[in-house]
Amino acid sequence: MSTLAVIGTQWGDEGKGKITDYLAQDAEMVVRYQGGANAGHTIEIGKEVFALHLLPSGILRPGIINVIGNGVVVDLEALEEEMAKVKASGRSMEGLRISDRANVVMRYHRLLDGAEERQRGAKGVGTTGRGIGPCYADKVARQGIRVCDLLEEDELRDKLDAVYPLKERQLAALGGEGMPTKEELLRKLLSHGKKLDRHICDTSVLVNDAIKKGKKVMFEGAQGTMLDIDHGTYPFVTSSSCIAGGICTGVGIGPSLINEVVGVMKAYTTRVGSGPFPTELTDEMGEMLMTKGGEFGATTGRPRRCGWLDLVIVRHAVRLNGLSGLAVTKLDVLGGVGKINICTGYEIDGKLEESFPASLSRLQRARPVYQQLQGWEEFSAGKGADCAAKGYESLPSNLKAYLDFVSKNVGAPIRIVSLGKERDETIDLRSRKKQAVNSCY
Ligand code: GDP
Ligand code: IMO
Ligand code: MG
Repeated sequence: MSTLAVIGTQWGDEGKGKITDYLAQDAEMVVRYQGGANAGHTIEIGKEVFALHLLPSGILRPGIINVIGNGVVVDLEALEEEMAKVKASGRSMEGLRISDRANVVMRYHRLLDGAEERQRGAKGVGTTGRGIGPCYADKVARQGIRVCDLLEEDELRDKLDAVYPLKERQLAALGGEGMPTKEELLRKLLSHGKKLDRHICDTSVLVNDAIKKGKKVMFEGAQGTMLDIDHGTYPFVTSSSCIAGGICTGVGIGPSLINEVVGVMKAYTTRVGSGPFPTELTDEMGEMLMTKGGEFGATTGRPRRCGWLDLVIVRHAVRLNGLSGLAVTKLDVLGGVGKINICTGYEIDGKLEESFPASLSRLQRARPVYQQLQGWEEFSAGKGADCAAKGYESLPSNLKAYLDFVSKNVGAPIRIVSLGKERDETIDLRSRKKQAVNSCY
């Protein structure tokens, strides 16, 4: 059995797309288990740049079965648009499978998302506006429309009859406009159903069979641990279980079937949208990270807030996901910086706090405790592929010291080192003998 999960350890945009695409070279199946079109996973292959929202990142390599699991919320229009774009690049959609149990993001979910945000005003979450929260809320309230409903007109009509008046009233109460008619919704859904029919199946059966046959299956997380509905910076989170635990419910497999869990960690921290961010930098260094790192949302184009690496949250991610290793990205962006700060704990009300607090007011009072490390000033832009070809040992000693520090502090080995956007700007340490790592905490 060989299964591997790729999970974000921060507030999203860690480079999960790049790492999933890289690791997909060995995979036979890639599976998304949560989130929706709020995700933006960028993959650069030479001159081609893809920002994938709903399609799993294995879609760019031939011969892979790509699965949208039941835990994903599917915006059918967005999905069809994305399929057309990727198809136009010469890739096939033959291997795409969509769970018949996945919930559908309806037009009214998007409208409600916008209307709710407007009501919250300055206290808004800063959502991506993709209807994610309202769709998951309907799923839990047992009034969602599922992918299997698209294939049964009578069933779909009954469900819409029941839910439509509720949604119409809800949107009107929030001052939202543009509610489509029930007939419009029905027509569109049935037409999507017809187009997607051959991709729809019971994906839990499919994935379990693949695992039983010893196929290499990879699970691709969207968002990141700090955006997890239970363990993130609630309420400034997304509405799904982004952590490894979400794979079981979001795919329909048992926990004993997950072999390895790789956490993707950006060499610094970013976040889009509102909410606490203890190591945020509003100075020139923050500006430099944003510009040099190209830190703009792949889904909404919003500038990302930037700050120093925060190991309190990475340790949180190691524990919650049972991470067996880390893939560290964007080390090239820190190249040329003289001194690098790493947050190892928070000082709250005069006391050292080493785990991430639940209370937002405590977080607001949290002052990061930094350890300062020497940077790798000799590493300049464009050196990624060269360094990757020469291997880990050839990396600047300060960069290796930084990776050692992170690994020991969080108690997880470094498995992948990423020095640029491209596939060949990657150092793979997975075949190195597994080293023992002792956490400082
Ligand atoms: P995701 O949502 O976790 O998949 O991440 P995004 O795609 O939203 O954002 C990560 C960005 O960083 C993308 O533009 C990637 O092409 C880019 N990226 C990934 N790894 C590296 C790296 O090691 N170095 C640099 N410079 N860029 C990277
Ligand atoms: P990837 O997969 C970064 C953030 C939004 C907002 C909060 C809730 O590219 O890492 P939502 O629309 O989900 O209800 O918004 O979550 N958010 C992301 N931030 N990367 C993402 O995805 C995100 N998906 C949602 O900015 O703060
Ligand atoms: Mg992203």
